Amino acid sequence: MTVTLGEGRTPLLPAPRLSERFGVELWLKWEGANPTGSFKDRGMTVAVTRAVEDGAHTLVCASTGNTAASCAAYAARAGLRAVIVVVRGAAAGPKLSQVRAVGGEIVEVDGTFSDAFAHAEELGSQRGVVVVNSTNPHRIEGQKTAALEILEQLGGAPDMLTLPYGGGGNTRAYALGFGEQLPRIHPVQSADRAHTVASAIRIVEPVHRADAEAAVARSGGAIETVDDAQIAAARELLGREEGLYCEPASAAGIAALDRSARAGERVVCVVTGHGLKDPV
Ligand code: F0G
Repeated sequence: MTVTLGEGRTPLLPAPRLSERFGVELWLKWEGANPTGSFKDRGMTVAVTRAVEDGAHTLVCASTGNTAASCAAYAARAGLRAVIVVVRGAAAGPKLSQVRAVGGEIVEVDGTFSDAFAHAEELGSQRGVVVVNSTNPHRIEGQKTAALEILEQLGGAPDMLTLPYGGGGNTRAYALGFGEQLPRIHPVQSADRAHTVASAIRIVEPVHRADAEAAVARSGGAIETVDDAQIAAARELLGREEGLYCEPASAAGIAALDRSARAGERVVCVVTGHGLKDPV
């Protein structure tokens, strides 16, 4: 049986004012419309469905908050236990509220995201415990569906795709989903990965770095780097010009648009999570 909360089939919204501002045809893939408010739900439905089939009793993940909220919700849906490992003080409060509301257990560790991930992997070595980070291949399979939806919604591939770059799992997923119809991919990372205001992508060592870089190179795109002021400005632009309230990390694609996009082309920016999750 599929463990689902009705994820996916999110809107692809035209962005007329930002299109004019940047001199492109811009579309926004609004992933904040997913059940827990981020794109993570696309992969979680598949990973949790498979975990149930494999007889799991507990799900575990390390997270900056969104994987956490998604994991805990789908675990509750499936009647499983969820153990969430976060870096102490690093995840946005509303995301932890989401976890608690559906009965997830939060374990705080000191250090970086890599330390939290190592701890999750250790817990995952026990029988009946499944790690649902994006290193779980079912997560990537599920996240691919966003690319398939864009192909359907646009009637073909865009010229360029831009999205935030944290661990790189979503970049991999889009590249796989587009397959032979690969647009130029421009993932956008924070200049200060360790301390950025965009807490969702506060990851120093991207676990999918090699695969993400290979996919970007194959696409003819490039990894872009922006600072916190640019992220904040992009978030404000999305709100004021297009009425979309997203979390800081989710505005990263817009923050690099002035250099990543070419005049007149068709661009899709993936807006990964809802603003209520990280209302800084
Ligand atoms: N945008 C949001 C809102 C995220 O939560 C994340 C990652 C990303 C973008 C980056 O995606 O890691 O596939 O490159 N959040 C993870 C989490 C790390 O734990 O919720 P990525």
